[in-house]
Amino acid sequence: MSIISKDIQKAVHLLTNDDVVAIPTETVYGLAGNIFSETAITRIFSTKKRPFFNPLIVHISSIDALQNIVTHVPEKAKLLATAFWPGSMTLVLKKHATIPDLITAGKDTVAVRIPNHPLTLQLLEQLTFPLAAPSANPFGSISPTTAIHVEQYFKNDIKMVLDGGSCSKGIESTIIGFENDEPIIYRLGALALEEIEAVIGKVVIKNKKEQNLDAPGMLARHYAPKTQTFLVDDVVHETKKHLGKKIGVLVFHQSKCDDFCIEVVLSDKASLQEAAANLYSAMHHLDHQNLDVIIAERFPEKGLGISINDRLQRATVAL
Ligand code: TXA
Ligand code: MG
Repeated sequence: MSIISKDIQKAVHLLTNDDVVAIPTETVYGLAGNIFSETAITRIFSTKKRPFFNPLIVHISSIDALQNIVTHVPEKAKLLATAFWPGSMTLVLKKHATIPDLITAGKDTVAVRIPNHPLTLQLLEQLTFPLAAPSANPFGSISPTTAIHVEQYFKNDIKMVLDGGSCSKGIESTIIGFENDEPIIYRLGALALEEIEAVIGKVVIKNKKEQNLDAPGMLARHYAPKTQTFLVDDVVHETKKHLGKKIGVLVFHQSKCDDFCIEVVLSDKASLQEAAANLYSAMHHLDHQNLDVIIAERFPEKGLGISINDRLQRATVAL
């Protein structure tokens, strides 16, 4: 029997009883549990095989609820929250004493966001507690952007995926932390850098693991297909190095190869938004074609292209 369902009341029931439920957001599907339930949170980590040093994002449904989660909101964080919530931005702020260490991996900060998905906002409004939700994929693998992706990963492990359709943004939220009240981008994501800078001015980016020990989840290899993947400027040139192999190709807007490879064009109309929304689905699709290699085309380094290149880069790191 399928674990996919649109029944919000069922999700409320499971979550209220210390169980986990996969939930839709506009970025990717999350694997959610009550932040105050040790049973639920432990189950999230064990289902994902995620190490406990990697903290979780807390999901709330209103800016008012923020005061129960954090003790201090810098001016620029207020501006960002007002501009972009509900939306694809996570803020890392000083945590309230009541937030369990299991959520924050013992850190004195907590990551929090208001997701922009009608079903999940309805769900959060019916619950008496916030939801911790990492992306609903096994640790390190491609994030899910449909209920079916989650079912393929976890049908034997969880009871329910709340079906909210395909994620409209398709890559994870942009994570912003603060040092001395000044913003720092810990993870590039679905909210483009330019949009953030239009509200608060220039921000520092520490998106690489070696730059930022404060964001323990920023692994070199992440969001990765099982198939060996390359990221290149010239796809045609790279395919010639792999003649005789079964090749998958992932390109931005223009078809680059004939019938000798399986190709996905991410956005015919060259929209970075559309390409981001289709990225993980395309990676899931190619990863199920029994290919020898996947060759991905590097995106223009602007807007969401920067975030897409970040994900593709992490997908190419060998195990
Ligand atoms: O779009 C998203 O953010 C999705 C949806 C479900 O909301 N969630 C998501 O969660 O991507 P996850 O667990 O896959 O990624 C959370 C990231 C990790 O890299 C983690 O290290 C970082 O957030 N993080 C969480 N708490 C943190 C903290 N206190 N300080 C620094 N980084 C933190
Ligand atoms: Mg993740």
